Amino acid sequence: MTGFAATRKLFHLPRGVIYLDGNSLGPMPVAAADRVAQTMREEWGEMLIGGWNKAGWMAQPRALGDRLGRLIGAEPGSVVLGDTLSVKVYQALAAALEMRPDRRVILSDSGNFPTDLYMAEGLVAGLGRGHQLVTVAPEAVEDRIGPDVAVLMLTEVDYRTGRRHDMARLTRAAHDAGALVLWDLAHSAGAFAVDLAGTGADFAAGCTYKYLNAGPGVPAFIYVAPRHQDAARPALSGWLGHAAPFAFEPAYRPGAGIERMRVGTPPVLQMAALESALDIWDGVDMAALRARSVELTELFIVLVEPRCPDLHLATPRDPDQRGSQVSFRFPDGYAAMQALIARGVIGDFRAPDIMRFGFAPLYIGEDEVRRAADILADVMENRLWDDPAYHVRAAVT
Ligand SMILES: Cc1ncc(COP(=O)(O)O)c(C=O)c1O
Repeated sequence: MTGFAATRKLFHLPRGVIYLDGNSLGPMPVAAADRVAQTMREEWGEMLIGGWNKAGWMAQPRALGDRLGRLIGAEPGSVVLGDTLSVKVYQALAAALEMRPDRRVILSDSGNFPTDLYMAEGLVAGLGRGHQLVTVAPEAVEDRIGPDVAVLMLTEVDYRTGRRHDMARLTRAAHDAGALVLWDLAHSAGAFAVDLAGTGADFAAGCTYKYLNAGPGVPAFIYVAPRHQDAARPALSGWLGHAAPFAFEPAYRPGAGIERMRVGTPPVLQMAALESALDIWDGVDMAALRARSVELTELFIVLVEPRCPDLHLATPRDPDQRGSQVSFRFPDGYAAMQALIARGVIGDFRAPDIMRFGFAPLYIGEDEVRRAADILADVMENRLWDDPAYHVRAAVT
């Protein structure tokens, strides 16, 4: 089992930077650069098209899905990689809706990440069968679950506040009402151990570029519970989800099990980067990771709150109700974040007023948390954020 002093050496972190934004884009595993270069030189370069068979490219989306599956409590053969999280949410939601043909409501919460809601809206419009996307406050979800709900679609950890839903409880409540559940694990996978099988989740999807550290744009994953795999009809019926892709049949037949959730050609170079990220995860004790994550988030809150009275904690105080991030509300949060970044503390900002800090024990320790809190206190106490340069918004915040 790898300790955290050892895992931090496995990441490339620029000198002088305290990186608290792994909840948005994880840092590069040192091995990833060589692993990708090796795939290019030895596989693409030397094998050319033979790489699909000889280097196992075609099998990777499933093989890597199984490795990732340990972190999210998925049964073997229930996770496959591909596309983006937006696309995987669409696929899962479409399949789930079709499995509840007599119901019309997709229930979600108002804190959900916009793409999930947009994808649901697009799907509803395309189906043209009178489905309705209903969003309620996160605390009101359980009470709204009822006999009209086809699918409960939630992001487990709120991207802005870090508030964590109770997956087991809400999944049970949805099932009791006859609904299916789709979990977005964008801020869960690699942040703590998820237990999809244990909680009885029906569908899930997530990305690999945040806490999993696989790299920008590396493919997403989709989970379909084994009991649903043969009933889940793929709305995106691409050739690689076909039962016999290389038979080139004129009509679509869904592939066996999770294979049917594949769409098109896998991004082989990106999956090489994912492989080096998973090499690190293979040695990580998820219970120890969670314990350290709670320590780090607690420490940051305890150090920042008394020294920064203008910052208002947006994250639940109870560690059981949060993921691995801490967010503060501050009306000039964008400028304050730019002032922090200029001083080497990298977090990010989410409109309208949220300063987000992600804590990834694989490469962040107590020292960094203390230094980051000191720098944040300096920025706030001395109004260092009040500089016109820090108010100019970049395209990506
Ligand atoms: C909760 C959540 N869902 C979905 C997405 C969108 O993922 P993608 O851009 O990979 O489609 C994000 C992106 O940050 C997210 O935070």
